Amino acid sequence: MIIYKVENYEEMSKKAASIIASQIIMKPDCVLGLATGSSPVGTYKRLIDLYKEGYVDFSRVTSINLDEYKGLEPTNDQSYRYFMNTNLFNHVNIKKESTFVPDGLELDSDKACREYEEMIESYGGTDLQLLGIGRNGHIGFNEPGPVFVRDTHCEDLTQSTIDANKRFFAKDEDVPHQAYSMGIGSIMKAKKILLIAYGKDKAEAIAKTINGPITPKVPASILQLHNDVTIVADKEALSMI
Ligand code: GLP
Repeated sequence: MIIYKVENYEEMSKKAASIIASQIIMKPDCVLGLATGSSPVGTYKRLIDLYKEGYVDFSRVTSINLDEYKGLEPTNDQSYRYFMNTNLFNHVNIKKESTFVPDGLELDSDKACREYEEMIESYGGTDLQLLGIGRNGHIGFNEPGPVFVRDTHCEDLTQSTIDANKRFFAKDEDVPHQAYSMGIGSIMKAKKILLIAYGKDKAEAIAKTINGPITPKVPASILQLHNDVTIVADKEALSMI
C-alpha cells in the first residue's frame, strides 16, 4: 500500500488526477473504474484540464462506474449517471457508449445486477479503480455487514449513508434507500486501486482501512489484501493513523 499524505483537497485532486492520467497515457484503451461523491469532483476537474491542455486523450478509454441509486432516472440531477456526465464525460472526448453506470431505472434488481456483472466480466475487470470512502468505511455502496458481497448487487443503504447523502437532495425523503453497487469481488479484480479521502469525518474509516482487522464491518479493510493500492488523503483524513 502506498500512502500519499497531502495538505488539502486541491493537492489530493491533483495527485489523483495525475495517477489516472498516467494510466491513460500508458494504456490508451484502458478500463477505468470510476466513483462519485464529493471526493472525486476535483480529480475530474483536473482531468478535464489535462485533457484540454492536450495531455490525455479519452477517445479509447472505457469507464465503469461503481454504483447507482435504484429508481433514479439518468436525467435526475442526483443520479450518478447525471453526476458523471456533468462532472467529467461531457467535458472530455470519451465516447458515451463506452461509459457504463448501473441502470437505476431497471427495477428488476437481479436483471440489473446480472447484466452489469456480465458487462464487467466482458472487459476483464478494470485497470484502475478510483474509490472514495464512506464515513462507515463503505466503498461503492458496499455497506458494513456480516459478509463481503462479491458481485454487483442491490444494497439497502444504512442510515448513516442516507444521512450523509441528504445534503445533495432537496428533501430528506427524496434520498433513495437502495442502490446497485459493484461488489467487493469486482472492485478487488482491478489491477490498481486508487482511494482518495479528505476531511476529519473520514479519519476513523481511513485508520480502520489501513490498520484495522480485515472485516466486512469495515468494507474498505479488504483493500489490505490487494497488491496495488494507492491512498491519497489529506492530513485530516490521516489524522488517526
Ligand atoms: C457514496 C458513494 C461512494 C462514495 C461515498 C463518499 O456513498 N456511493 O462511492 O465514496 O458516497 O462520498 P463523499 O466523497 O461525498 O464523502
